[in-house]
Amino acid sequence: MPLIKILPAEIASKIAAGEVVERPVSVVKELVENALDAGATEIRVDLLNGGKKLIRIQDNGRGMSQEDAALCFKRHATSKISGEEDLERISTFGFRGEALASISAVSRVVLKTSDGSGAGYMVEREGEKLLRFSESAFPKGTLVEVQDLFFNLPARRKFLRSERSELGLVVNYLTWQALAFPEIKFVLTNNQKEIINCPAVSSLRERIYQIFGRKVLDKLMPLEYEEGSYVIYGLSSRPFAGRLDRQHQLFYVNRRPVKDRMLTAALTQAYLGLLEKGKYPEGFILLSIPFDQVDVNVHPAKSEVRFREPQRIFRLILKAVEMGARSESLVKPIIVAREEVSGRERTERAKTEADQSELGWSAQEEELPTPVQAEAASHYGLTAAKEKMQAKRESETAGKSFRVLGQYLNSYIVAVSDEAVFIIDQHNAHERILFEKFLELRRTTGWSSKQPLFPQVLELSPAQKLSYEEMKYELEELGFGLEPMGGNSLVLREYPEILSDEEVREVFFALIEDSEDFRLKDRMERLLATMACKTAVKAGQPLQQEEMEFLVRELFNSDQPGLCPHGRPVVIRLERSRIERTLGRKPDED
Ligand SMILES: Nc1ncnc2c1ncn2[C@@H]1O[C@H](COP(=O)(O)OP(=O)(O)O)[C@@H](O)[C@H]1O
Ligand SMILES: [Mg+2]
Repeated sequence: MPLIKILPAEIASKIAAGEVVERPVSVVKELVENALDAGATEIRVDLLNGGKKLIRIQDNGRGMSQEDAALCFKRHATSKISGEEDLERISTFGFRGEALASISAVSRVVLKTSDGSGAGYMVEREGEKLLRFSESAFPKGTLVEVQDLFFNLPARRKFLRSERSELGLVVNYLTWQALAFPEIKFVLTNNQKEIINCPAVSSLRERIYQIFGRKVLDKLMPLEYEEGSYVIYGLSSRPFAGRLDRQHQLFYVNRRPVKDRMLTAALTQAYLGLLEKGKYPEGFILLSIPFDQVDVNVHPAKSEVRFREPQRIFRLILKAVEMGARSESLVKPIIVAREEVSGRERTERAKTEADQSELGWSAQEEELPTPVQAEAASHYGLTAAKEKMQAKRESETAGKSFRVLGQYLNSYIVAVSDEAVFIIDQHNAHERILFEKFLELRRTTGWSSKQPLFPQVLELSPAQKLSYEEMKYELEELGFGLEPMGGNSLVLREYPEILSDEEVREVFFALIEDSEDFRLKDRMERLLATMACKTAVKAGQPLQQEEMEFLVRELFNSDQPGLCPHGRPVVIRLERSRIERTLGRKPDED
């Protein structure tokens, strides 16, 4: 008896299905791509339970004839390529003829379709089996309903995450895809609740506005650059704008969303010297290149591509950003990075920017500290502490006497005691101190909220709105008072008094985008840690002597001076005995 067996077709197709269909978002992706390939101008995605229960996608594309409706679930059934030479230049999203076969192998599927020539047809399938093929009236277009994904693959089903997490993936994917097709209307609902609704518009700018709002759009500049048959267009960060994470780095090749390290690296390099430390460029970057210059057939889910001339594309991105930034600087003074600017210059700069805001850019765009902010900084911060500390300056806490020598690289405080030399990371230290303050306040009196003079409007992306709704109660407990204002916008009526007017926006967004850090006990603690991180002094910020002394004293008084709330080290301690030994002042003790 041979040991090798040929697998029964049913098992083989489940295995193959696993490559294409991993989770609800993979189903959404395949079906949306089919709708795009069918020339739809409206695509609607309805989910139940984040897609784990039901995924329904309806389009108004060209639909299918009776014959095609009967064939489309067969593996390797495709209308998009017919010969080997077509593989060299693929212009459609699909071409493998696998999606419908794979999806139907692992779920219960109903397809309704009509090409507008006669009645419509309905196909009902379960697992590999065809249950029914019938005539059924239907408007031109196609609807695919996928129920109980992986009902026949319990092992896979177990790997699905929470509703919220699966839904999050779909929101991100659809956002990504919708940006490449502003002329198409996209709608997404989950449990009948609308999450994305973008009617057709005529440009990427407008689509970005629909999805992310004015604030995001205002920080972007247009890109447009052409070299032979290679074209690059889209929007990316204006010089000295940027954001605190890489979430807005989206790339497309011939309108196909792609992930590619080379593209990310090119964008990063293009912004060297154009952004402050700690900021990442945003980029909604579309490349249009001849179909035979890119291989999309590298990955079953087609999210990766291979370029024939990667260096050429790298250079193109550098060039496009350079040109974009150059034409920006004609209208806007180039601003030096924050760490090189003194307080007075900052104020002046804020003023000029306020004047310029009439020209269409907002003064807060760079989120520059203004004098108002300095006053508003609470006594938990540094400014007010300064005065208090001034009085106590000479009197050192018992047993903890140290002297601050100064600041190194505007980021580290160098302090000495009789026993050791300390090199302290100013950001991590302040973060630790604030975190403990917040924890203590929460244990004891709590803190109150304050109302801003002018209520701020916060524009959320669909993904942000989702996480906001999920953590509404925690945010309320923290002292945020928000009201819905239509669409994805919120009005900020109240916020914790420990935040300044200028900080609050950044802190709010950091809170709702809070990534799951399991080292911290509960989510509330995590939120407090995020708040501490966002309000702490930054690396690169020059500090006054009193500020440094305050930080060092508070740090040595804190519960865990060694680590910041996120677990990064705060202090390097160089023992006196080690210094003396290393420099040969004292013989080795052993
Ligand atoms: N929404 C749709 N509208 C019209 N035709 C469709 C749609 N979805 C699938 N089809 C047809 O079914 C075929 C098989 O689809 P699929 O399994 O996704 O493979 P592929 O997209 O790789 O061709 C497609 O080539 C297309 O002809
Ligand atoms: Mg397809």
